[in-house]
Amino acid sequence: MARLSISEREKQYWSQRYIENRTCWDLGESSRPLVDYIDQLEDKSIKILIPGAGNAFEAEYLFNNGFKNVFVLDIAPEPLILFSQRNPNFPKTQLIEGDFFEHVNLYDLIIEQTFFCSFPPKIETRKRYAKKMNTLLQSNGKLVGLWFNIPLKGDLEKRPFGGDKKEYLSYLSPWFNVKTFENAYNSVESRLGKELFGVFEKKHR
Ligand SMILES: C[S@@+](CC[C@H](N)C(=O)[O-])C[C@H]1O[C@@H](n2cnc3c(N)ncnc32)[C@H](O)[C@@H]1O
Repeated sequence: MARLSISEREKQYWSQRYIENRTCWDLGESSRPLVDYIDQLEDKSIKILIPGAGNAFEAEYLFNNGFKNVFVLDIAPEPLILFSQRNPNFPKTQLIEGDFFEHVNLYDLIIEQTFFCSFPPKIETRKRYAKKMNTLLQSNGKLVGLWFNIPLKGDLEKRPFGGDKKEYLSYLSPWFNVKTFENAYNSVESRLGKELFGVFEKKHR
């Protein structure tokens, strides 16, 4: 039997979780810290990517609030299909089924939420994520989002894979100027005190 590539294995893993409804990460609505960030954006023409978007409630919020240049990327087709059913007017060409690490394009803003923590926490993968985020941004582009501030345990079956501010900065600061990176004060109750809100501006190297 042919061996599956890493992308194909990941796709199968995540598809299966959606098929079995094992989506405990899903808030079922837009996350408050991200909504508050979005609400203060003035330029609605910016090109935005949400990678590992899942059900992508933030993309829905953006789109319904006048941001039309929003792209949703996920390796699993199931949440993209559901998103499209919920949002029939959202352009299909802006729903991308694919692997983040293979995706090529340039954005002004990338939004992170429970995506970093979904990868098996190898140092190499975490470094690769930071570098890839940088290469997907236009000059002065921003990576904005939430990263869990919870201990990383040894159990490789237990997502979300945690980390702390110091560790995240070790991956992100080579590629980004840190505008803010603090405990979110406006998280949903279940995540209060457990997530960092960050705004990182692309560094030129
Ligand atoms: C923990 S879920 C989070 C989903 C969403 N961000 C949320 O907060 O509800 C991780 C998501 O990343 C997607 N994913 C995992 N690896 C990926 C990759 N390499 N490229 C694109 N999407 C990926 C999964 O299919 C899944 O939808």
